[in-house]
Amino acid sequence: MADAAKPKRVLSGIQPTGRPHWGNYFGAIRQYIDLQEQNDGFYFIANLHALTTIRDADQLRQNVLDIALDLLALGLDPDKATLFVQSDVPEVSELCWVLLSGTPMGLLQRCVAYKEKVDKGIPADAGLFTYPVLQAADILAYDSELVPVGADQVQHIEVCRDVAGRFNHQFGDTFVMPKANVLDDSAKVPGTDGEKMSKSYDNVLPLFGEVKKIRKQIMRITTDSRPMEDPKQPQGDHLYDLYSLFADAGKREEMAAMYLRGGFGYGEVKKAIAEESEAYFADARARRVDLEQNLDHVHAVLQAGAERARNVAAGVLLRAQQACGLK
Ligand code: ADP
Ligand code: TRP
Repeated sequence: MADAAKPKRVLSGIQPTGRPHWGNYFGAIRQYIDLQEQNDGFYFIANLHALTTIRDADQLRQNVLDIALDLLALGLDPDKATLFVQSDVPEVSELCWVLLSGTPMGLLQRCVAYKEKVDKGIPADAGLFTYPVLQAADILAYDSELVPVGADQVQHIEVCRDVAGRFNHQFGDTFVMPKANVLDDSAKVPGTDGEKMSKSYDNVLPLFGEVKKIRKQIMRITTDSRPMEDPKQPQGDHLYDLYSLFADAGKREEMAAMYLRGGFGYGEVKKAIAEESEAYFADARARRVDLEQNLDHVHAVLQAGAERARNVAAGVLLRAQQACGLK
């Protein structure tokens, strides 16, 4: 039986494919930070996964450093959690190969993230196709129990469970079965066009960057053209949803009442979103400026994290190699 007092291994990864946005924060990063308190958090920057989209070496290196700064500024605490770069743990790539051999093509062909990219005309290489198996290796290599993510990643966690289950069935109990952890209220944060906010859709509101520019982006969020005086339903309205990310219960109720009364302009809601979001991220912004002056510290954190992570992954890889006869 699981020991209730034992901290859980929590693991998640974020791709260094661009600046993190509100969706990344409220869907995933906020969970990393909350869960680091009572658990053994392992969080990494998925640069191997990013290779499927970024083909510029300097850009990739810079993005990795930027995301490390972002995560630390947002409150990821290296004394409580382990922060590292994916490719600093080569055991994961080795485990990926072991897992690939037992993964049916059909399982990967059904993956929405891959199908969507192909439908958009993004050329599919084998890296993109096998992306979920590398993700499974990421998760299984650290005996992860809980994987905090946004709703779009749930399918990948299911693939991981499927791949782990097949291996365990074939070779005996080797891998821990992970579970996705998705927050009800922010599993799918809308972007400026009302669709899911995503770095690949050009509809993001960034966490860091020039406040004036972000304000402009907020003012450009699409809205419908109903007359001002009409009462409106707050539920399902993306402006209301964005406001709710930042506002406390009292302010949310006031905003909902204003919607139901009607007689307001969407510009007012946008201004409120800008004000609330600026206040919300002010401390993180200040911390990021300080961290930028102390890059040696950031590199040291990543190095220490990689050592800790490698230690764990080497043990799990050996277990898998012994189970299937490679060792
Ligand atoms: P993107 O889709 O912008 O490229 P990533 O794939 O790097 O983002 O996702 C990093 C984490 O943020 C994942 O756990 C993902 O589920 C979460 N996430 C991304 N977009 C959203 C969103 N709009 N709402 C909630 N969570 C999100
Ligand atoms: N695929 C995830 C994303 O795009 C990033 C990721 C890579 C990840 N490996 C992971 C997330 C392992 C959770 C666990 O967001």
